[in-house]
Amino acid sequence: MNDQTIKDAVRERYGRIAKGDLQGCCSTETTVAEGYNTATSCCGTSSDCGGEATDSADLGLGCGRPTELAGIEPGTTVLDLGSGAGVDVFRASEKVGPTGRVIGVDMTPEMIERARANAAERRLENVEFRLGEIEQLPVQDGSVDLVISNCVINLAPDKGKVFDEILRVLKPGGRMVVSDIVTRGEMPEEVRQDVELWSGCVAGAMDRDAYLRLLRERGFREARVLTEQDYDYGKKADYAVLSATVEARK
Ligand SMILES: C[S@@+](CC[C@H](N)C(=O)[O-])C[C@H]1O[C@@H](n2cnc3c(N)ncnc32)[C@H](O)[C@@H]1O
Repeated sequence: MNDQTIKDAVRERYGRIAKGDLQGCCSTETTVAEGYNTATSCCGTSSDCGGEATDSADLGLGCGRPTELAGIEPGTTVLDLGSGAGVDVFRASEKVGPTGRVIGVDMTPEMIERARANAAERRLENVEFRLGEIEQLPVQDGSVDLVISNCVINLAPDKGKVFDEILRVLKPGGRMVVSDIVTRGEMPEEVRQDVELWSGCVAGAMDRDAYLRLLRERGFREARVLTEQDYDYGKKADYAVLSATVEARK
C-alpha cells in the first residue's frame, strides 16, 4: 500500500462523509478486518455520538478537545490541520475574537465546501478555509501562533513531513496542541496494511512515545501528552489504541 493509495482512500471517505453519504460517527456500516470498528475511532468525544447531528460543523470526527486545552489567546492566529466541516475553527474563532484569525486547511474539497458554507451561515469574518495538504501547507513561514488539529495527523502517511511543516509555519515560540489517535505498543503489519483501518483512524496511528520522539527529533521542544484516553475495540491485543492530546513548542 503506497502513500497515494492511502491519501485517495482518506479523501474518498471524508468526501462521502461531508456529503452525508457516509456516517462519520458510531456508524455500523464499517465493521472490518481484525474485528475493529473503524467508525468509532475518530469520534471519541463528539456529543453527536448515538444521536441526531445538530451541528452541521460537528460531524463527530474528532477525538479530543484541542481548543479547550490550548489556552487560545485573543488576537492570535490559529491554524487547524484537517479542519473538516469547521467545528474547531469555529470554537477557536470565538476565543481569538475579532482581532484574531483562524485558518482551516483540509485536502478534501467537499469538506472545504461544507466548512465555507458553515462559516457563511455563521457570518464569521475571522475564519478562512484553504484546500491543501498538511504535508505541504498553503500557509506562510512563521505566520501562526498556534497549530491545532483533531484526529487528522494519524491519517497522514509521512508524519515527519507534517511536523516539519508545522515548525515552518509557526512563529518562534509558537505551539502546537493536537488531539490524535496513537497506540501503546506496535500494531501488527496486517493491521497497518488495511486501507479501511487507515482511513478510519486506526492503522496510521503511531506509538505514543515514538510520536513524542519524532516531534523532538524534528526540532520541537517540550513535547508532552496533556491528556489521553484508551479506546475499547473489543479485541485483545498486545497494544492499546488511545486518543491523546499532545503539546509541543517551537
Ligand atoms: C477524522 S476527520 C477530522 C475532521 C475535523 N478535525 C473534526 O474534528 O471534525 C479528518 C479530516 O482530515 C482531512 N485530512 C486527512 N488527511 C489529510 C491531509 N494529509 N491533508 C489535509 N487534510 C487531511 C480529511 O479530509 C478530514 O476532513
